[in-house]
Amino acid sequence: MARTRTVFRCMSCGSDFPKWAGQCSGCGEWNTLAEELDVPSPAAMSSVPATPPVPITAVRSADGQPVPTGVAEVDRVLGGGLVPGSVTLVGGEPGVGKSTLVLQLMGRRAAAGATALYVTGEESADQVRLRADRLGALSDDLLLAAETSLPNVVAHLHQLRPELCVVDSIQTLQDPQYSSAPGSVTQVRECAHQLVQAAKTTGTTVLLVGHVTKDGQLAGPRVLEHVVDTVLSFEGDRHHALRLLRARKHRFGSTEEIGLFAMAGGGLEPVADPSGMFLGDRRPGVPGSVVTPALEGHRPLLVEVQTLVAQSTLSQPRRSAQGLDSGRLALLLAVLDRRAQLPIAALDVYAMAVGGVRVVEPGADLALCVALASSFVGRPVPETVVACGEVGLGGELRQVGRLDRRLAEASRMGFTTAVVPRSAPAVDAPIELLRVPTLAAALDLLDLRRT
Ligand code: TYD
Ligand code: MG
Repeated sequence: MARTRTVFRCMSCGSDFPKWAGQCSGCGEWNTLAEELDVPSPAAMSSVPATPPVPITAVRSADGQPVPTGVAEVDRVLGGGLVPGSVTLVGGEPGVGKSTLVLQLMGRRAAAGATALYVTGEESADQVRLRADRLGALSDDLLLAAETSLPNVVAHLHQLRPELCVVDSIQTLQDPQYSSAPGSVTQVRECAHQLVQAAKTTGTTVLLVGHVTKDGQLAGPRVLEHVVDTVLSFEGDRHHALRLLRARKHRFGSTEEIGLFAMAGGGLEPVADPSGMFLGDRRPGVPGSVVTPALEGHRPLLVEVQTLVAQSTLSQPRRSAQGLDSGRLALLLAVLDRRAQLPIAALDVYAMAVGGVRVVEPGADLALCVALASSFVGRPVPETVVACGEVGLGGELRQVGRLDRRLAEASRMGFTTAVVPRSAPAVDAPIELLRVPTLAAALDLLDLRRT
């Protein structure tokens, strides 16, 4: 009897290894190797008929014109809409709202007269109907198929030639040619590959929903990244309403724009004024808080950074960073201690970006340090002040990009003063700039070093 060979395949990047290992040497991820049958990919082997090269000027430039989805925040991220025949992966953690987003989008297209096919492998047809009803997405042009077999999906595409097809999720699809389970690297990769072919031949725009968990337990989008045209990631903290849509890869445009949504009872709603939303519940006069004008893509967002320092009862003081980078927090605590002579190292430190947003850019360094010092000395930062700048290991302040955009937003929200690095350029907004060379000077200016 012929022995079937198995390989150990990384669920994150798809690299194969003859032996199991704790860490994938392909991508460096831990605990991502899983045993799978080693079958050659017929999709990869099948000889595609060669298309003769054509002069670049003979290529129709109408190809690749995006079609608006009708969901403005999605169109903003995509630079206009979805390109016909393209394949887009929508990745995100379970429960973040991927199904809701794609269903709303299909409802809009269907209402505009386009045929949209929703292939659901996770929820039953009546569950989807119930949700569509709630989202106001019911339409005769929105077709449902509760289906997990890839050949059937491809057949539907050829038969119906819908304008838009959503597969929710790619991890539930299975090609019976392969014995591996749905969600395995082989299945995910082969199914995606064949859907890309089908999209190209039928001109259907395909959206693939893909689950990603933080520890990479399911075949992550990295396996798919080079197969698809666009990779969108849908992010957000489950305990907060805010959701962020960003492009990780986009063959047809920039990856700079982000879309902002709030999850509400009737589905996802666009957030027109994110800064207003973040600052809505702010309590001025509390030590440990300061606002920073962060930048997400092209969009300035005013985010409140809050910290609390407290006597530690532990030999190893506690450090907690929510919505902020914990490594950065540790680094800044060391800089505060050594360069600004603030003896904070032995205290418990809690720091967070308010509102369920993640602020990991170095531009938030100064605000985090100012908030920490304010909590340490127990005096608040004036409520009309924002802080923006990167803090170096030497305690020096460094410039951040697009200060004008950031400060214009701060000024719009009523802030009158900005603490910024010495080299900050002049900005065209009614806001006073307090330029300082070092972190220590910034803290002195705000009277946050004297206890
Ligand atoms: P869902 O789209 O199912 O997430 P995913 O497909 O990414 O797993 O939605 C997740 C959550 O969103 C769900 O638990 C409930 C919430 N939700 C609302 O708050 N309002 C709504 O209108 C809908 C449809 C969902
Ligand atoms: Mg879902």
